[in-house]
Amino acid sequence: MSGCAYNWIVEEEVIDPGDPDAPEVSFSSEIVPIFSSKCVSCHSTGNQAPDLTPENAYSSLNTSRYINTSDPASSLIYTKPSPTGSHVKYSEAEAALVLTWITQGAQNN
Ligand code: HEC
Repeated sequence: MSGCAYNWIVEEEVIDPGDPDAPEVSFSSEIVPIFSSKCVSCHSTGNQAPDLTPENAYSSLNTSRYINTSDPASSLIYTKPSPTGSHVKYSEAEAALVLTWITQGAQNN
C-alpha cells in the first residue's frame, strides 16, 4: 500500500503542447518574463513591432497577425523566434511554453 515507486520522478522541464492535461500556462507569469528577458531590448514601445513590454504585450499580440489559435504552430509569435530561424530565438522550453499558451487559447491570464 505504499506509494507508487515512481512518485519521486521530477516533472519534465519542457512542457508538451500536445498534452491536453498540460498545466495551464500563464501569460503574465510565464510568457511575459521571456519577452522581458530576451525581446524588449528591441521590441519596446515605439520601436520594432510587436511591442512586447509587460503592459502592452497582450494587446500587441492579440491579433491574427501574431496568433492563430486554430493552427497554433503557424502563429508568427511562435515561428519568428523559432530555434531554426535567423532572428533571436526561444530556447526549446520557451518555444514549448509559447506554443502551449496559444494551444490553450492565448488567454490574458
Ligand atoms: C536584436 C533585436 C531583436 C530582439 C532581441 C528580438 N527581435 Fe523580434 N524582430 C527584430 C527585428 C529587427 C524584426 C523585423 C525584421 C524581421 O522581421 O526579421 C523583428 C521581428 C519580429 C516579429 C515579426 C514582426 C512582424 O510583425 O512581422 C516577431 C513576432 C518578433 N520579432 C518576436 C520577437 C520575440 C518573441 C523576441 C524575443 C524572443 C524577439 N523578437 C527579439 C529584432 C529583434
